[in-house]
Amino acid sequence: MARIVQLTDLHLTSAPDGRSWRADVWTNLRRALEHVRTEVGSIDLLVLTGDLANQRRPETYARLREVVDEWGDRVRVLPGNHDNREMVRAAFGDRLMPGSATLNFVVPLGELRVIGLDTLRPWRVHGRLGAPQLAWLAGELRRSETPTILFMHHPPIRVGTWWLDKDLLRDHDELRAIVESSPVRAFFCGHVHQESRGRFGGADVWTTPSTAYQFPPHALLPGSRRTPPAFRVIDLDGPRIDTHVVRVPPG
Ligand SMILES: [Fe+2]
Ligand SMILES: [Fe+2]
Repeated sequence: MARIVQLTDLHLTSAPDGRSWRADVWTNLRRALEHVRTEVGSIDLLVLTGDLANQRRPETYARLREVVDEWGDRVRVLPGNHDNREMVRAAFGDRLMPGSATLNFVVPLGELRVIGLDTLRPWRVHGRLGAPQLAWLAGELRRSETPTILFMHHPPIRVGTWWLDKDLLRDHDELRAIVESSPVRAFFCGHVHQESRGRFGGADVWTTPSTAYQFPPHALLPGSRRTPPAFRVIDLDGPRIDTHVVRVPPG
């Protein structure tokens, strides 16, 4: 049995008391982590799936590193469209694959393999993996039949909210061709600040609400809600995957 916690869309400010979309983002992150500590307990991996920063400054990432450092080498990070890849690398370089131009990771976990994919395109809102990463993923999946779960910031499928769906992963067709008939069992994504579930290339796709603030499902206009911070728990029992969203009760 192994347990992963996914936190996504932290949208942190460079100042420790700053706000994004009126949300007190550092307090929300601390409340979410306190809930992980006290209610979830021991975990094998803490995965942060992008939009770590709203203000891309070295001090934002350095402070985030301090806040999650108690999970040590169990922490993995991916960039989102709001992030600066080199600043993420500077703060979390020892958690990343050496020698890679992008911020992917591979972690063996029990009977499964966990892969993180970097979907960031600098200065764009939408995601794209690009040919080098797609080739790398295809090679990685060919190497082993181990059941695999993937983490990415941008979902490969629509969630039903048009102003978010226009910025999903652009090269999803190329990704689907690789994932079909591969050992990929599930995707866990962020970016859309809401919970959803779908299917892609024979695998489940789950999106996870934000740690910072939420976007209402099916909203016609962009807008946020300061609903409680949330995160996702993923339990791996052999090859079986159970997952649920945890919404942190008001403090
Ligand atoms: Fe976000
Ligand atoms: Fe995003």
